[in-house]
Amino acid sequence: MEKVESLAKRRGFVFQAGELYGGLAGVYDYGPLGSLLKRNIVDAWIKRFVHQRHDTFLLDSAVVMGAAPLTASGHVGGFVDPLVDDLVTKKRYRADHLLEEYGVDPRGMTPDEMSAIFKERGFKSPEGNQLGDVRQFNMMLETKLGASEDSSSQAFLRPETAQGIFVNYKNIIDSMHPKIPFGVAQVGKAYRNEITPRNFIFRLRELEQMEIEYFIHPSTWEQQFDYWRDEMNGWIQEVGIDTAKVHEIEIEGADLAHYSKRTIDFEFEYPFGQKELYGLAYRTNHDLTKHAEASKTKLQYTDPHTNETYIPHVIEPSMGLDRTFLAVLLSAYNEDEVNSETRSYLALPYHLAPYRIAVSPLVKNKEDIVEKAQEVYGSLKAVFGSVIYDDNGNVGKRYRRQDEIGTPFCVVIDYDSLEDGMVSIRDRNTTEQVRVAISELETYFRSYFNFV
Ligand code: GAP
Repeated sequence: MEKVESLAKRRGFVFQAGELYGGLAGVYDYGPLGSLLKRNIVDAWIKRFVHQRHDTFLLDSAVVMGAAPLTASGHVGGFVDPLVDDLVTKKRYRADHLLEEYGVDPRGMTPDEMSAIFKERGFKSPEGNQLGDVRQFNMMLETKLGASEDSSSQAFLRPETAQGIFVNYKNIIDSMHPKIPFGVAQVGKAYRNEITPRNFIFRLRELEQMEIEYFIHPSTWEQQFDYWRDEMNGWIQEVGIDTAKVHEIEIEGADLAHYSKRTIDFEFEYPFGQKELYGLAYRTNHDLTKHAEASKTKLQYTDPHTNETYIPHVIEPSMGLDRTFLAVLLSAYNEDEVNSETRSYLALPYHLAPYRIAVSPLVKNKEDIVEKAQEVYGSLKAVFGSVIYDDNGNVGKRYRRQDEIGTPFCVVIDYDSLEDGMVSIRDRNTTEQVRVAISELETYFRSYFNFV
């Protein structure tokens, strides 16, 4: 974890937000390379779940939501985590996480039951101090819209992208006239005032989600649930997450979210433990029913063939973008031995790599070579887009840098290139080199980047 975190900072993937001013806990900035990797993950997700399907629409709803929809959805009343105070330092902790650290399984426990265990067993805070009573803490970030101070100005930063989809259900039905089953997909920021953000970008206060609400007839929910489970596994494979480290966990009884009749968590073996990567939930028609009641609007669907009118049920594949990013980095990180030296490299899938190709002149002080390198760079960039010109340091250093940022191929223009029109191409994973004619480069790379 330390190696990946350090690489992420050193190579411009992820920076602590507000670092200049001491940092903002649970908030991170994605740097130049991180932004490209993140964008490639989102593009792949949209391609897979929107463009390559015939039944899914994309949505980009507002981050700020009024109190009414989030009250109806149950978030104002119930989007809580159990909190406990260190009575001396006044630091606050997630009570369930503290219990886990003491080897107690907190699943299904009420705050009172947790308090009782802390007292009976004499469990202390990580600083060794007495703990207070466990209470529920609402994780939504609240704000005010406009100049007035009354309750009408109360607003929240959405805690999940899902609610933006539910409140637009009628707009989508009226404007797009979809037939059930259909999905609405959304990628966007969500905010949770996590009590103890930690583990780099694993538990964030500003996070990004990629969610689909798939509207179905209730009689099909089991079949659709299985279908989306396979779809999520297909996605996990596509982005190169180590499938041997992914485990499906059935969420039981009291641990099910208030809206869910069945949930599977996809957990990943992070270096700091096996924890949630994604969730798949059968949300029944809970959300649409609640929004219909609160807004006094019919949120229904009439089947054009059978004329049956009903409130659709929902299967929800929910995928955290930051956790995808982290699991992709952790899965791609490799070390091997090259020329008796340890080399680290990111074996990112080609379609996710921030740069697809790096082009270099062997030396910087030979005008003909530099000119040829610029020419090759320009023509490859015109076709493959994310191509970088790298003439920093010597060729060995450039290879190490490109390996660390996951660039699949390095093209080097040398003295011979000027004579024979050939360049060397070095493969990131194998470090093997081949000679290819400049005139053949586009065809050569198209065989690898067939997604461009
Ligand atoms: N709409 C359902 C929902 O939001 P969730 O399990 O609370 O369910 C879904 O969140 C996904 O969002 C998680 O599986 C995880 O990938 C991501 N996620 C949730 N909280 C997060 C946090 N604090 N930091 C980073 N990612 C988070």
